[in-house]
Amino acid sequence: MICGVVFSDAANRFSFCAFFQHLFVLIKISIDGKVLLCYADVMENNEIITYTATCLFGLEKFLGEEIDSLGYKRIETIDGRVTFEGDIGAVARCNLHLRYAERLFINLGSFSASTFDELFEGTRALPFERWIGKDDAFPVGGHSVKSLLTSIPDCQKIVKKAAVERMKETYRTDWFNETGVKYQIEFFILRDRATVMIDTSGVALHKRGYRPAALAAPLRETLAAAMVKLSRPREDVLLWDPMCGSGTIPCEAALMMTNTAPGLSRSFAAQEFESVPKEIWKNAREEALSLIKKSDFRANCSDIDPHAVETAQANISRAGMDKYVKCFCADALKIETGGVRGTVVCNPPYGIRLFDREQTERLYREMGKHFATLDRWQIYILTACEDFERLYGARADKKRRLYNGMIKCGFYQFFKNKK
Ligand SMILES: C[S@@+](CC[C@H](N)C(=O)[O-])C[C@H]1O[C@@H](n2cnc3c(N)ncnc32)[C@H](O)[C@@H]1O
Repeated sequence: MICGVVFSDAANRFSFCAFFQHLFVLIKISIDGKVLLCYADVMENNEIITYTATCLFGLEKFLGEEIDSLGYKRIETIDGRVTFEGDIGAVARCNLHLRYAERLFINLGSFSASTFDELFEGTRALPFERWIGKDDAFPVGGHSVKSLLTSIPDCQKIVKKAAVERMKETYRTDWFNETGVKYQIEFFILRDRATVMIDTSGVALHKRGYRPAALAAPLRETLAAAMVKLSRPREDVLLWDPMCGSGTIPCEAALMMTNTAPGLSRSFAAQEFESVPKEIWKNAREEALSLIKKSDFRANCSDIDPHAVETAQANISRAGMDKYVKCFCADALKIETGGVRGTVVCNPPYGIRLFDREQTERLYREMGKHFATLDRWQIYILTACEDFERLYGARADKKRRLYNGMIKCGFYQFFKNKK
């Protein structure tokens, strides 16, 4: 593959720098008497890139397993992030396939940073030019946790200044217009160690594209996927969300059971990146499409609010999952098994954004009584209510801590529901 071109002696520094981690052979070609010098990359796709995928707290295990199954090598897992190694193709494959990730970053490097000087020097040493061109935009954001550098605005300024200094040297210019492609730079400082990264996702990955408008208090799609995974969906067991709101849980269940990559209906920031070959996106989409399978899986998606049912139906149609999910209006306190095996997975109001405390307590008491009549069905309920088991009237067989955005929740799992 010819991946860098220089016209006769007009050396282009960016072309050279963009490929500096590759091994080149120089080829001379004559076209219409003009001499072209081409760099041919003989180590195509062999570059090992370090990535970080972020996720909601509590989903690291699922995210790690997905990364393993895509064939990449995990290096480290900490709260809310998994670091791993992969080739350039991982940019496309991970953005498309990772069901539990919020974002995928390319790591530029990590270093100790307990002072602003260390942050500046560490950042300036990083190969920004490997990815970012002379005219591209590179805004900076970030976080600091358990570290001496606590002022995010100050860290932002320092990282930006250091990136500019680095690029000034590389591109031999004093001014950057930043009118080109946007490369969002993200720093993360944990216990005085900084990691500087480039966001490849753009819009967060929980936004799959099928839910343009949601109702009040929707679940993040990534969390809904994790709830589904924990409920161990099967083709011969009906999954029912009787408080479906915008339909996120049944939709994620159908996507999972048909092995549909969650990112197939959206685009990603790195599709615009000059140094990410266009064909990796085409290949990854083709691969994802070939992996979709038909399934006998069925889900019910119901709510007492007709507007919610309408919204859920529209979202499920947009996701192409109508065949697997039936939407209808119903009171959750009146649902029946219909003599089939089933699992309830739901996210009732918590008394925070929907319902007041009294309504919520009444609902939980009624749910406990009614769901106990669903013979041998398993019940999975996510709520932020600390008092849930007392109100529901039963102790969960298993309880797992999950976060709905910033809201600390319990995922209550009842395995042995007897009539
Ligand atoms: C927190 S929202 C669910 C959000 C949903 N998981 C999503 O992702 O959009 C709770 C839903 O419970 C519904 N609800 C409350 N009481 C109900 C009942 N008795 N029967 C059915 N639905 C009920 C509300 O209308 C609301 O849509």
